[in-house]
Amino acid sequence: MKIRPKDREYEDNQLYANMCHLSGALENDSDVWQCQKVLADVAVHKPRTFLEVGTRTGLLPLKVALAHPEIHVYGVDTVSAFLDIANTRCDKFHLQDKCLRLYYCEQDMHDLSSHVEVGYVCSIGVLEHSHNPKLALSEIFRVCHRRVYLEIDLAHDEKYAGSHYTTETQPEDWLSMLPKDHGFDLRWVRIGNTLTIEGTK
Ligand SMILES: C[S@@+](CC[C@H](N)C(=O)[O-])C[C@H]1O[C@@H](n2cnc3c(N)ncnc32)[C@H](O)[C@@H]1O
Repeated sequence: MKIRPKDREYEDNQLYANMCHLSGALENDSDVWQCQKVLADVAVHKPRTFLEVGTRTGLLPLKVALAHPEIHVYGVDTVSAFLDIANTRCDKFHLQDKCLRLYYCEQDMHDLSSHVEVGYVCSIGVLEHSHNPKLALSEIFRVCHRRVYLEIDLAHDEKYAGSHYTTETQPEDWLSMLPKDHGFDLRWVRIGNTLTIEGTK
């Protein structure tokens, strides 16, 4: 049977979720490093709400919620198996029961309509999976009203050919798709194959 790219991506995600369940090892070095960067940035900008788009098993929202009891934290992803893990871990810390301030929900980055006015929106390694990056970017910039932090993998694996891009991309490809008049003071940097775009309003 021929596996379509989207199925392949779904299978990868399921496999990852199962591995997390089996090993209990939810963090690897790069996860921890990315979390530290965003945690430090959140401490500087002090948003009242935080959203991670494409949160996988929700490690970053959990860390933000633990470090900043005053912030309402959201993590969205399209793979329910990941969100099950995120919620199980969240239960362990009683963050949902006691404070009702850490939420994970199944949602697509192309339609963030249940979110309005989020102070800090972050997305790491997710936009390159989009079949319509312009729409995904417009959703992120629509809901974000203060600080945005995006990391995009420019060297896209061909197995994700269901996304908009099937080959390596350049920073300009992504910058040209940002919504006009977004109102953010944006900076971007390319390090290796990672494009980081960050901005403040
Ligand atoms: C490479 S992982 C990155 C996860 C996490 N941000 C990190 O840095 O570890 C990509 C994540 O994006 C999610 N994703 C893919 N397409 C999505 C979509 N349309 N909307 C929301 N999340 C999506 C996948 O399920 C997966 O959890």
